[in-house]
Amino acid sequence: MSAPVMVASGLARHYEVGGGLFSKAQILRAVARVDFDLYAGKTLAVVGESGCGKSTLARMVTMIEEPTAGSLTLDGKPVVRARWPELRGDVQIVFQDPYGSLNPRQRIGAILAEPLAINRPDLSAADRRAKAREMLGLVGLRPEHYDRYPHMFSGGQRQRIAIARALMLDPKVLVLDEPVSALDVSIQSAILNLLVDLQERLGLAYLFISHDLSVVRHVADDIIVMYLGLAVETGPKEAVFAAPRHPYTTALLSATPRADPGAKHTRIKLTGELPSPLAVPPGCPFAPRCWKAQDLCRAERPELTGAPQAAACHFPMEPGEI
Ligand SMILES: Nc1ncnc2c1ncn2[C@@H]1O[C@H](COP(=O)(O)OP(=O)(O)O)[C@@H](O)[C@H]1O
Ligand SMILES: [Mg+2]
Repeated sequence: MSAPVMVASGLARHYEVGGGLFSKAQILRAVARVDFDLYAGKTLAVVGESGCGKSTLARMVTMIEEPTAGSLTLDGKPVVRARWPELRGDVQIVFQDPYGSLNPRQRIGAILAEPLAINRPDLSAADRRAKAREMLGLVGLRPEHYDRYPHMFSGGQRQRIAIARALMLDPKVLVLDEPVSALDVSIQSAILNLLVDLQERLGLAYLFISHDLSVVRHVADDIIVMYLGLAVETGPKEAVFAAPRHPYTTALLSATPRADPGAKHTRIKLTGELPSPLAVPPGCPFAPRCWKAQDLCRAERPELTGAPQAAACHFPMEPGEI
């Protein structure tokens, strides 16, 4: 395989929260440690429950927030803050909410041309308009949409516009943060198909974030499962779906509707609450909810080990265990 477009090593983001006259500030490890390689034309999916650090990861990758620790490279060169302005065009993002992310007072043509006006002074106004029109077509919208306002579109169409805007600067990496979670189920697959089609045409690398494994199943090449800021399982999609090694992945999968409803299917119900990210258990963060947990799990944090499929678990699942 060719060299990765982007590499993340030991990426972490901490926040100081609380703290005042009588209390000490606490450290919230929104992302405690994530590593990945991202390849052109491939999709790396990041899955996990709400609050596990997915959007924080997205903000680091898209240079909205600086990592507390760890590093990113793009085309082999370090992504340091001083280079953000020149690199931002290479890494673009699409957010979950297609209603909040478009300026209601701008026409679609202006929304699409805006990134070019800022970043491509070499292009004339006519060139910018031409590229905006071309992009409208690429995401499946019609030429007459160019002069309309966002409120005249459905949620699915708005997400097409947000995708078009993200592609205006010819990025190499597209971060998709829950791109279909706000859309009707009937529209989700149309947007997912569009994303697959665009990836094939443009050779884009996707970092695809979702809390929903059934969405990820359609689009991912590789998967990272996150829990409380940590990657707990990583690997090729087929391997992770066929035989998850971390009990948390097993539980997530068991709660996901199957393509083959007739197949043997044990549903695992997780007991206990998701711990507060301010009080992550010292050993394995999943131990308080894990049916396999032993003393070792509560005492010692397991390393993420194994290749190509890795799990951070002292007692990983055996094939056929459930
Ligand atoms: N700016 C911030 N300040 C303090 N805590 C934050 C901040 N942003 C996110 N968090 C916390 O970090 C954790 C991860 O949040 P987030 O990345 O949004 O998760 P997800 O996208 O997976 O739902 C949560 O506990 C959230 O409350
Ligand atoms: Mg989020």
